[in-house]
Amino acid sequence: MVKREITEKLIKAIEVYEELGFTYLPLKQDRFIELIKSKPVYAVSETHADTVSEPESALSINKDQALTQLREKIGDCTRCKLHKERKNIVYGEGSSDARLMFIGEGPGRDEDIQSRPFVGEAGKLLTRLIEKMGMKREDVYIANIVKCRPPFNRDPEEDEIATCKPFVERQVEIINPKVIMSLGRVSAQSILGMKMPIGRMRGNFFSINDTPLMPTFHPAYLLRNPKDKWLVWDDAQKVLEKLRD
Ligand code: URA
Repeated sequence: MVKREITEKLIKAIEVYEELGFTYLPLKQDRFIELIKSKPVYAVSETHADTVSEPESALSINKDQALTQLREKIGDCTRCKLHKERKNIVYGEGSSDARLMFIGEGPGRDEDIQSRPFVGEAGKLLTRLIEKMGMKREDVYIANIVKCRPPFNRDPEEDEIATCKPFVERQVEIINPKVIMSLGRVSAQSILGMKMPIGRMRGNFFSINDTPLMPTFHPAYLLRNPKDKWLVWDDAQKVLEKLRD
């Protein structure tokens, strides 16, 4: 790709994040510094600085308002092809002050109908896990990487993930949970931007913008492989320990 094309793509990406109300780019600082050093895009970081200094920045409004504003920005989204077959957008739900946030992959059939995350069989298992952890579903926040149901529950595709990911990143920024649990391979790989198998990731803390993230198995996987439930319970113990810190 020529330099001008790269710069244009970066500017476009930054404009999307700005439009969503981000006050910084959700990139690891060292990666951002590397990026700036390797590409002459200083004008872009100046644009970003302007946004930070705006008095009406996302940080100065309350979390519920910010979540509502983000939902309004998503609107009746047609940004990717998933909009064609969805019935409803599944934005996410729970406490805006949640200390624990769960991130799934994308809505299934029940979620698509009800416009709520994790309300089908896998959702019931997730709700039981939350309760076993000593919390209520309303205490946590639950969102997905993509907000529209992929047809036939197939995995979301790269372009769909890339289009929708800024929304979940913004939800994380607004809620600012103490710990995140990602559910399943697609969720962990998308949010962390790495291709490691879920069996190797789970059980270990990663971090997104200084928030610890514990990848674990998806509840739908546990419905098919109940013998692995103890591994998720093990991961949940580590999360509870971190919440107690
Ligand atoms: N699976 C997911 O990943 N998310 C949901 O909301 C439901 C099922």
